[in-house]
Amino acid sequence: MSKVLLKVSGVSKSFGHVQALKDVNFELNEGEVLGLVGDNGAGKSTFIKILSGVHRKDKGEIIFDGDTVDFSSPSESIEAGFETVYQDLALAPDLPIYSNMFLGREMLRKGILGKLGFVDKDGMRKSVEKNIKKLKATLNHVDQEVGTLSGGQRQSVAITRAVIWGKKVIIMDEPTAALGVEESAKVLEIVKELKQHGITVIFISHTMPHVLEVSDKICVLRLGFTVANLNAAETTYEEVVEYITGARSQIEG
Ligand SMILES: Nc1ncnc2c1ncn2[C@@H]1O[C@H](COP(=O)(O)OP(=O)(O)OP(=O)(O)O)[C@@H](O)[C@H]1O
Ligand SMILES: [Mg+2]
Repeated sequence: MSKVLLKVSGVSKSFGHVQALKDVNFELNEGEVLGLVGDNGAGKSTFIKILSGVHRKDKGEIIFDGDTVDFSSPSESIEAGFETVYQDLALAPDLPIYSNMFLGREMLRKGILGKLGFVDKDGMRKSVEKNIKKLKATLNHVDQEVGTLSGGQRQSVAITRAVIWGKKVIIMDEPTAALGVEESAKVLEIVKELKQHGITVIFISHTMPHVLEVSDKICVLRLGFTVANLNAAETTYEEVVEYITGARSQIEG
C-alpha cells in the first residue's frame, strides 16, 4: 500500500484583485509523479510557489507527510523536504559540478579542528560521483565547470543536488521548456529514475507527451480551479487538452 504524502484541499491565493488560485485539490502518494498542467496563467507557478514557501496561501489546507503545513519562507519548505528546480536553476557557472552540489552547505571533515573543520573536497567528490551513477545522469566528470554543461546536464546537476540532500519532493517548473529533443528525453529519464528511488515529483509542463510519459497522476488547473484529477494511464492527450481549454470539466459550473 502506498502512503499519501501530499494532500491539497481548497487552496486559494489572491494578489490584490487578481485571484490566481481559487480551489486547488489533489492527492499524491509517495514515489508518484504528478503532472501539473493548465494554460498560461492557470495558476501552476503560483501553486508551486506556495509549496516552496515563496507565497503564502489565503485559504485551504496542505497536509504533508501527516502534518498540516503552511510554509512562511523557502527555508521552511526546504527543511520539510521540498526542493524546487526552477528554469534558471540557481547554479554557479564558474564552479565545478561537485561544488555546485554543496553550494552553501560544504561538507566539513571532522578532524582536530572539530566543528571548525575544513572543506572535504574528496568526500564531496565521492558523494557526488555515487549519486550521479545512482541516477544514471549523463555527466562526464565532477570537476567540469557547470558553465560548460548543456541545458539538460544542468538540469541533471540541480536534480542530483536535490537527491543528495535527501529531499522527499522535487518540484520542476517547465524543466524541458528550453531544451531540445535529446536533452528533454534525458530529463524525462531522470524523472523516471527519481521515481525508482521513491522520490515524489511535481512536474509542470505545456508539452503533453512529456507529461503523459512520466506522470502517474495529472492535475489540470484552469483559471485557478482544479478542473480534473486524472489517472495518467487512463487518460489521453485529447482528453487532457479538453480539460485545459475548458471543453470539459469534472467540476460543476
Ligand atoms: N506576484 C503576482 N502579482 C500579481 N499577479 C500575479 C502574481 N503572480 C501571478 N499572478 C497572476 O496569477 C495568475 C496565475 O499565474 P501563474 O504564474 O501561476 O500561471 P501559470 O499557470 O504558471 O502560467 P504559465 O504557464 O504561463 O507559466 C496570472 O493571472 C498571473 O498574472
Ligand atoms: Mg508558470
